[in-house]
Formats: sequence, C-alpha cells, structure tokens
Amino acid sequence: MFEVPKIKSAKGKVKLKGDKSISHRTLIFSALSEKGERTKIFNLSSAKDVLSTSECLKKLGVKIHISEEYAEVEGKGLYLSQPESIIYAGNSGTTARIFSTILSAQKFPSVLDGDESLRKRPMKRVVEPLRTLGAKIWGKENGNKLPLVFEGAEKLKGGKSFRLDVPSAQVKTALLIANFWSNNIVKVKEPTLSRDHTERILPIFSVNVRCDSDGFIWCEGKPKSPKSIKIPGDISSASFLISLGIINKNSEVEIEDVLLNKTRTGFIEALKSMGAEIICEVEKEESGEPTGRIIAKTSKLKAKTFSGEIIPKMIDEIPILSCVAVFSEGIFSVKDAEELRVKETDRIKAIVENLKAIGIEVEEYKDGFAFEGLGEKAREKLKHEYYIKSFGDHRIAMSFFILGSSINGKVFIDDVSSISISYPEFFKDFEFLMEK
Ligand code: S3P
Repeated sequence: MFEVPKIKSAKGKVKLKGDKSISHRTLIFSALSEKGERTKIFNLSSAKDVLSTSECLKKLGVKIHISEEYAEVEGKGLYLSQPESIIYAGNSGTTARIFSTILSAQKFPSVLDGDESLRKRPMKRVVEPLRTLGAKIWGKENGNKLPLVFEGAEKLKGGKSFRLDVPSAQVKTALLIANFWSNNIVKVKEPTLSRDHTERILPIFSVNVRCDSDGFIWCEGKPKSPKSIKIPGDISSASFLISLGIINKNSEVEIEDVLLNKTRTGFIEALKSMGAEIICEVEKEESGEPTGRIIAKTSKLKAKTFSGEIIPKMIDEIPILSCVAVFSEGIFSVKDAEELRVKETDRIKAIVENLKAIGIEVEEYKDGFAFEGLGEKAREKLKHEYYIKSFGDHRIAMSFFILGSSINGKVFIDDVSSISISYPEFFKDFEFLMEK
C-alpha cells in the first residue's frame, strides 16, 4: 500500500522527457534506416515501454547506445538478425503492434510475447490485415492474443487497402510500414484521425507519405537516417502536472518544450471547454511536430459530456480528465470510448470502481460512464480514508495519485510501481511542483 502525499498548491516550470509515442517510432525508424547510418536521438523517453522497444531491437541485432546526453542507433536496414530467444514487448501495445509487421517480413521465424496485461490485449486488429498481405502468423485465439509466432515471409504482398473499424495509431502505423517490405502499395484509412506521429516523422526519415482522393494513406521509400533528431516533451505526462495546477488553489504550472500536436491535445481542449485557464503557445517544430509551452492555473470547472472525434485525441488522458472532473460542477460524462476497455487494463471499469471507492455515484456504460462532480469544495468533501486499485495500469495509478494528493482525505494506492511504464520522473516532478 502506498500512501499518497498531500499537496496544497502546485507552482513551477518543468521540462519533460521525450514523448513516448514519438520515441518508439524514432527508435524503430532509426534502426530500419540504411545499414551503418547512425542516428543521434536527443530527449528520448526514459519510459519502460520505450526500453521494451529498444530491447526488442537489440535482440534483433540493432546496436543502440543510450547515454545521459543522447541515444545513438546504428541502422541495420529492413532485414534484421535472427534472435536467440523470444522478442518481449513487456507492457507495450505500441511495441507489439508495430513489431508484428517487422517480424512478419523478416527472413526468419520468431516469437513475440508480452506481460500478463499485454497477453490479454487484442492483436487481431494487426494480425488479420497482415495475414491478407501474406504474413504467416499463429497464436492463441487464432492469433488474437500473444504469444504470437511469425514464420517470416521476407516480402509482403501489398496491393490492398484497409479501412479500420476504430481509429488506432498503432494499427495505422503497422500497416503503413508494411509498404517497406511490399512490392505493391498498402493503403490504410481510419474512421477519424488518431495520433499522426508516424505520418509526421516518416518524411524526416526520407519516406514520403501520400494520401489519395478517398483519404487512404500509404508511404513510399525506405527509411534513411536524419543523423540527429530531438523529441518534444511528453504531452501525456504533462497532463498530470497540468491537472495539479488546475485543481489546486494558488497554483500555476508551466511546461516547456512540450508536444502540442492537435491529435494529442484533446485533453487540453476538453479542459478549456470546462472553463480551465490554460495557455498553449506553439514556439517551434521538433521531429516534424509543433512544440511549445503550456501554462495552467487554478480554475473553476463546469462538467461536460465528451464524445465523438475528441475521444481519440485524448484517449490516454480520459483517466486523469475524469479525476479532474471530480472538482467540477455538474454532470461529467464520456461516451464513444469503448477502446478504453482494451488498454493496459479495462480503464472504464478501473475509473468507475475507483471513483465509487471515494464515494462518488457513477453510472457505467459499454462505451463510457457518467457522474456528478463535487465542485470546488471536492477537497473538503473528500475527507475520509480511501483505497484505490491501480490494476497494474500506470495511467490509473497516476490519475488517482493526483486526485488523492489534492483532497483532505487519506488515499492509499495498492501499487504505484507501474508508473515507470510511461513516466519514471513522475515522483520527482510532483515533488518539485509541491509547495510545502
Ligand atoms: C499509441 C496509440 C494509442 C495510445 C497508446 C499509444 C501509439 O493506442 O492509446 O498509448 O503510440 O501509437 P491505439 O493505437 O490502440 O489507439
């Protein structure tokens, strides 16, 4: 049991390690770059998930050296070396989905596995389209669950267009990069736009991304190293610090050099529409991404309903947004977010159960939930002892840590070790902002 420390107000300026999604992609495209080309990556994420990607690449013979100053990756081209043992993606869905394509197209057989949480997550969304491209993949539930076995097809067939049922940047990326190993074009289209980091970073690696008149996208060319690249700060990590600034009295939190890509800032858009005082200023481009500063101040919030196109733009931030909504006035609800059920844990269930544990009445739907916020007096109203279950999920642990730190009651979380999956500096940054 971990007792959450208390915060009175949050003040200060923070710089964050590189965005997790962009870090995965940068490592992978650097590794697939032409043989011998070296890429220096500045501000690579220190998240355990990103380390999983790095370890998978190393097992496949890629040379990666990570120092305090930068990470250096030596390109190996599109064909990697046969590994001695299984490729282990840990807790990382992004690693598992993207490596499904890479392993499908190698010249050797391999096995991909993950931890207990990742073994429960659906893989059919990448396995089925890859099979139609000629990939030979076997696994539990007809290839829907890890561990998966890949025969290694060397070339993929291509000549197919895929229309995704749900917006997913992981699946979009897995199918886009199939073009590296196929003679014919592989196109993909999402129902609504998910994070577009792959589309933005590929041109930096000299790969052109094309779009046809029906909105299907594909890419042309093979990755070439840009020699050096800098990753903007992680906007998902920033969401926890922004929240501290908003729900606590006399607070002002500033985040510098952070990713401000609109496919990722749905959380800020949502908070602003609830009345939050947040300023975002784009200052430059880094790795093809708008980057700048965010300033968040103590705010009075009105609850709202969120559904439709904004959901994929804040999919990872719905747990923290829900915790912030406890401090808002009125009914807060989330709809069209069924994808949350297949994240690191069933996040709808985790949010609902934990809000109930602090005494809030919550209605659960198949694709979301609704509850009434406690308003500005939430800190005083929540004065008892509460027990939170993280379900081994980093974002659930951090969201309820932020909520717990900002109320009068004592809050205990069963396990906070998962936090290092995405944000190992979380405790340090929290303490830095804390005015004792
Ligand atoms: C990610 C895409 C999202 C997101 C995940 C990271 C990525 O998942 O939830 O944390 O890096 O592409 P989906 O693609 O499944 O929506």
